[in-house]
Amino acid sequence: MKILLVADIHSNWPALQAVNETFDACLVLGDIVDYGTDPGPCVDWVRRNATYAIRGNHDHAVVQQVVARGGTGLKGLAAAARPLQRQQLDRSQLKYLSKLPVTQSFRLEGLSYLMVHATPRDPLDEYLANDADIWREILQSVDADVVCVGHTHLPFELDVGKTKVVNPGSVGQPRDGDPRCSYAVIEDGKVGFHRVEYDIGATITQMRSSGLAPWAVQLADSMLRTGCRPLL
Ligand SMILES: [Fe+2]
Repeated sequence: MKILLVADIHSNWPALQAVNETFDACLVLGDIVDYGTDPGPCVDWVRRNATYAIRGNHDHAVVQQVVARGGTGLKGLAAAARPLQRQQLDRSQLKYLSKLPVTQSFRLEGLSYLMVHATPRDPLDEYLANDADIWREILQSVDADVVCVGHTHLPFELDVGKTKVVNPGSVGQPRDGDPRCSYAVIEDGKVGFHRVEYDIGATITQMRSSGLAPWAVQLADSMLRTGCRPLL
């Protein structure tokens, strides 16, 4: 069985289109929208393909109309791009996002899975990469063979006791210094990490035509081309 893991698409449709994989099951780990400016086709792709999907903090913020305060860097970009999400999503797409659960638990091929965007103790917001000591503490109250997460935009695989923690990295906004779209595949119990180039220029052109402020387009351009979060 081939299980596709995607996370943190962030309204980047050209990046999501680069995930050209067949699969038996598709797990979508949240943050389908926000930051980017083409949320509609991303939500439709998830609706069509996800076997299981959960909400991320940015899906939650868009659905609940959380006002992003301005500022610089990522916060500034979210503040500039968030109003455009609701303008571009139709009622059924917003309804789909609003019904996404915060966690999902299920079994595949005899293994128990838990999906959560950030961490099991703080499903939407805790920022935790591959720190084995902290994961060991968190997993004391979790009974799952595989825990799938997103949120940090940093791909990793970590074995903690009997549990494997997997983060596929970010499809639409990588932050590990590699600008290529990131996702993972679990096949026969083994995790494979994949990177594919996509047309970043097409993403930026769409952002420019969306009405996003020019400074925000420039910030996104630099972030997407370097694969690094902005310094400020
Ligand atoms: Fe994210």
